[in-house]
Amino acid sequence: KRLILIGPPGSGKGTQSPLIKDEFCLCHLATGDMLRAAVAAKTPLGIKAKEAMDRGELVSDDLVVGIIDEAMKKPSCQKGFILDGFPRTVVQAQKLDEMLARQGTKIDKVLNFAIDDAILEERITGRWIHAASGRSYHNKFNPPKVLGVDDVTGEPLMQRKDDTAEVLKSRLEAFHRQTEPVIDYYSKKGLVANLHAEKPPKDVTTEVQKALS
Ligand code: AP5
Ligand code: ZN
Repeated sequence: KRLILIGPPGSGKGTQSPLIKDEFCLCHLATGDMLRAAVAAKTPLGIKAKEAMDRGELVSDDLVVGIIDEAMKKPSCQKGFILDGFPRTVVQAQKLDEMLARQGTKIDKVLNFAIDDAILEERITGRWIHAASGRSYHNKFNPPKVLGVDDVTGEPLMQRKDDTAEVLKSRLEAFHRQTEPVIDYYSKKGLVANLHAEKPPKDVTTEVQKALS
């Protein structure tokens, strides 16, 4: 399947992605994870993206469209994929449609992680991630087996630079202003499934499975 996950920061896109990936055997493309890796490696792309990311603003459409265009060429992404955090503007959505049209394919489903803004600060400020894999934990809602350590690799966990209450405000503003129109864009095509993203992780997984079956 070819899927898009849309939702505000902390709505659970990254948490549900590995489960969807395992079940439907897809590739998981998260523009945020790819950009953070580029920033950490100080590549030209990372240097261009860093400032906007630190401020909680979107990086330019051209940069992210370029990343996705490149990543989708991977053999593992030919039969299906999960786009997590892309497209986030209507321009990105239009570019994606053009990209897929060239391959003779299209999006099957858009999962909308609907949730109230008020819940998100606690999720964001309590999050710990394993940078290399993008796995995320929460000190209260999904603690690792050993505090500060990734369950799978045993490597240390870290907090994201943009996971502060202050930067969250700009990220939410960007979501409402630039990304919500993308939900309308796909609603008009009849592709959107709305999830109750405020529910516990297991319940959200059940909703995802229903939406995809
Ligand atoms: P990105 O990395 O995509 O960040 P985001 O959209 O803000 O989303 P998050 O990763 O914060 O949230 P999530 O939904 O994955 O939540 P998670 O599952 O981890 O983007 C970062 C930046 O990169 C952007 O600000 C922008 O600058 C740039 N960027 C990226 N893509 C771009 C694009 N296409 N165009 C332009 N710029 C782009 O969950 C959060 C926490 O809650 C975790 O601790 C988790 O354990 C916990 N949790 C998850 N689900 C539940 C649940 N059901 N109940 C309780 N706790 C839960
Ligand atoms: Zn994420």
